Amino acid sequence: MKILVTGGLGYIGSHVVVELQEKGYEVIIIDNLSNTSIDVLDNITSITGIRPTFEKIDIRYKEELHAFFKRHNSIEGIIHFAASKAVGESVNSPLLYYENNVNALVYLLQNIQNNDISLIFSSSCTVYGQAEQLPVTENAPIKPAESPYGNTKQIGEEIIRDTCKVKPNLKAIALRYFNPIGAHQSAKIGELPIGVPQNLVPYITQTAIGLRKQLSVYGNDYPTRDGTAIRDYIHVADLAKAHVAALSRLLNRKAKENFEIFNVGTGTGSTVMEVITAFEKASGVSLNYRIVDRRAGDVVEAYAQTDKARNILGWTPTYSLEESLASSWKWEKIVREKK
Ligand code: UD1
Repeated sequence: MKILVTGGLGYIGSHVVVELQEKGYEVIIIDNLSNTSIDVLDNITSITGIRPTFEKIDIRYKEELHAFFKRHNSIEGIIHFAASKAVGESVNSPLLYYENNVNALVYLLQNIQNNDISLIFSSSCTVYGQAEQLPVTENAPIKPAESPYGNTKQIGEEIIRDTCKVKPNLKAIALRYFNPIGAHQSAKIGELPIGVPQNLVPYITQTAIGLRKQLSVYGNDYPTRDGTAIRDYIHVADLAKAHVAALSRLLNRKAKENFEIFNVGTGTGSTVMEVITAFEKASGVSLNYRIVDRRAGDVVEAYAQTDKARNILGWTPTYSLEESLASSWKWEKIVREKK
């Protein structure tokens, strides 16, 4: 079965490609290489022993995308990652985000809307904002987005929902990720942030390796057990497995409705201080950090109710926080050795 992975050379996409290949799917990757390197293709190949088909395509170019689908008319499933994901950048360049994340999704759907096709969409727990009830369920109300990035995820879900209503052969699942961390156990693929990392775990590993002087902990006056904010950190390999489980549900026509939503997290919230402590334990490195003011736009607490994914997709996360952080650390050391 041929599966298209857009943005398949990115952080999450590359782990999903490995998982798909290991489950016997034939993978075609398209990626514009805007936030990754072509080397990832070799690294995927070295893990699985199978080189996925790759085409450098920028899906913002409607004609390019259309020509691609003309060349490949036997694709049965699509996992769509190709999008921008930096919250701060989206505030400064909103139109870039609406073009990459919204226009491109529309173009993708225009090409597939009349086909019998299964689509997995990367959404985010950011759509919930600060949820009133925790753990947050898929039915929690959607809050006004804090950033253009967050807005593109809300709009993306709505575009797919509206399209599915009138196109019964199109089947889609949106996965709302909590905080993906970690790297493949081989440490051949992982997260490669360009410039200064904005997310907690790459900032921690880059500080531990000496690339950054000090980690800033954004606020210790939150109403939580130690005053620092709570998130649900999920290993990227577990997240990858959730994609393949969701895809298989659609391909096997098990879904009751042609648009469904699942949270993908571990169900356990960890504070920033707990992450630091777990990292120090996993790496044996003592981390240089200091407490600074809260970061604008951050919610206090977000962790997933995961029953829906566990019961319906038959999926369970397997990595502990410490194991996930150990894999991030192993990856960071290998990346720096190569540089
Ligand atoms: C952020 C985005 C979210 C997006 C996700 C993509 C915001 C407000 N949210 O999630 O919309 O889907 O990235 O990966 O930007 N922290 C520090 N010091 C740091 C970095 C982070 O203390 O240097 C803290 C944050 O305040 C937060 C936690 O660590 O409490 C996790 O932060 P981060 O990794 O940036 O993820 P989110 O903010 O949850």
